Amino acid sequence: MDISTVNSLCYEDFVDTFGNVVEKAPLIAAAVWSYRPFANLSDLEAHISDFIDNLPESGKEGVLRCHPDLAGRDLQRGTLTRESQEEQSQAGMASLSPEETTRMHHLNAEYKRRFGFPFVICAKMSDKAGILRQLNERSGNDLTKERECAINEVKKICCLRLRNLVLSDTRNKL
Ligand code: GUN
Repeated sequence: MDISTVNSLCYEDFVDTFGNVVEKAPLIAAAVWSYRPFANLSDLEAHISDFIDNLPESGKEGVLRCHPDLAGRDLQRGTLTRESQEEQSQAGMASLSPEETTRMHHLNAEYKRRFGFPFVICAKMSDKAGILRQLNERSGNDLTKERECAINEVKKICCLRLRNLVLSDTRNKL
């Protein structure tokens, strides 16, 4: 798909295509559709980023709360979104030992108790060891710093998902 195809999508098709670039937050795609035409993929990405930055803190926390736990209930039940399933599998979350799973559950629960939202990291840019290290390290942040850090990870996830959708069949067009 090239950018002129993206710009030609009606909002229903746009939301069908880009509705999960921010996990379970199709409202964001529905909102940024208003900014067509996009000059290029970075322009679309920038509008999504601005939309998120302009949310109140409770809205940013809402975006974070739409993310499933890493190695959590949805993974075990097979109810992850396609994108999250792929990202979590690639980062080794689908092949943890029982001990590692228990440790992830414990750390995720501690993190959620502290901050009130789940631990979000761009799993595709990490691996099992990196995720555990970050989970430990970031748990020491204060709420303001951690919210900012987690939102940055949402943007990284979004960027990879967008690139996967738009550049998948036309690497040189954008
Ligand atoms: N990183 C990439 N995808 C996800 C996800 O679905 N949940 C969390 N917590 N982190 C992610």
